[in-house]
Amino acid sequence: MPAANNDGEGGWKTFVWNSERKEFLGRTGGSWFKIFVFYVIFYGCLAGIFIGTIQAMMLTLSSYKPKYQDRVAPPGLSHTPRSEKGEIAFVVGDENSYKSIIKSMDDFLASYNQENQTDEMKFEDCGATPGDYKDRGDLERDTGIRKACRFQRTWLNKCSGLTDKSYGFNEGKPCLIVKLNRIVNYRPRAPKSSDDSQVSVNPFLLPIKCKNKRQEDEGKVGPVDYFGLDGGFPLQYYPYYGKLLQPHYLQPLVGIQFTNLTRDEELRIECTVFGDNIEYSEKDRYQGRFDVKFTLKTKS
Ligand SMILES: *[C@@H]1O[C@H](CO)[C@@H](O)[C@H](O)[C@H]1NC(C)=O
Ligand SMILES: *[C@@H]1O[C@H](CO)[C@@H](O)[C@H](O)[C@H]1NC(C)=O
Repeated sequence: MPAANNDGEGGWKTFVWNSERKEFLGRTGGSWFKIFVFYVIFYGCLAGIFIGTIQAMMLTLSSYKPKYQDRVAPPGLSHTPRSEKGEIAFVVGDENSYKSIIKSMDDFLASYNQENQTDEMKFEDCGATPGDYKDRGDLERDTGIRKACRFQRTWLNKCSGLTDKSYGFNEGKPCLIVKLNRIVNYRPRAPKSSDDSQVSVNPFLLPIKCKNKRQEDEGKVGPVDYFGLDGGFPLQYYPYYGKLLQPHYLQPLVGIQFTNLTRDEELRIECTVFGDNIEYSEKDRYQGRFDVKFTLKTKS
């Protein structure tokens, strides 16, 4: 039915632009203009309420301290190198198999270079043995930038990347660098002597220990060396004052070297930090401890 077809097409065209009544999509220019003005005002008001609410909220926040921190959650751990699925696999003596690992460790440790900690206005020495918390004044008051404790890369010894540029990977004695994540105003506490953590107790140190996670790997992990300040997290680096007040803060590090891992099989190793206010969670794999899989392959 061609006639009806024409009619329909004509009806559609007329709907889009009706030249007789000067209507576009069924409305006159004036009507469209009113709708436009209405929506501009409507969305303008919405945006105003939105911005106003955020501003009011911001006024009640301190730039220095988190507002809601009724219970400071204990920090998680992080380690370098960190790979997908927590697997570190390489061929001993084959540089290409661990080149990217070395790179990630170099990058991570760059801010710990001696030449990055020379400014006396930003850094100070806090001793080379574990000591008590370093109080740097009120967290609320803006009395200028707080200094950060220096952390010498050389303390990481064989895991420093300075003497052995391959962090032990070349020899098949790989290192992990571990830190506690930053939490403003958190004061980690050393373990109580009654803890059955089998670690020597220093009142100013949170030690870390690694061992086989699975029973069947018993005896395959071999000796583990811990480097850093007495191989743990010393208290004089705490509390952390936050990004604004302590922008140059360096977390204390622990270098962990596995010196005789059994080769050609996957070993699951669990590292745990011990402290009185360190908690462990079944859900969070990095809360107070972590595990990592090592596979050292022999060169064929
Ligand atoms: C630390 O110093 C090195 C130069 O030795 C530089 O390349 C690097 O970017 C610095 N890192 C930071 C975080 O300042
Ligand atoms: C490394 O461990 C193996 C057993 O897993 C042992 O036979 C060997 O003597 C150890 N090497 C050193 C240097 O301790």
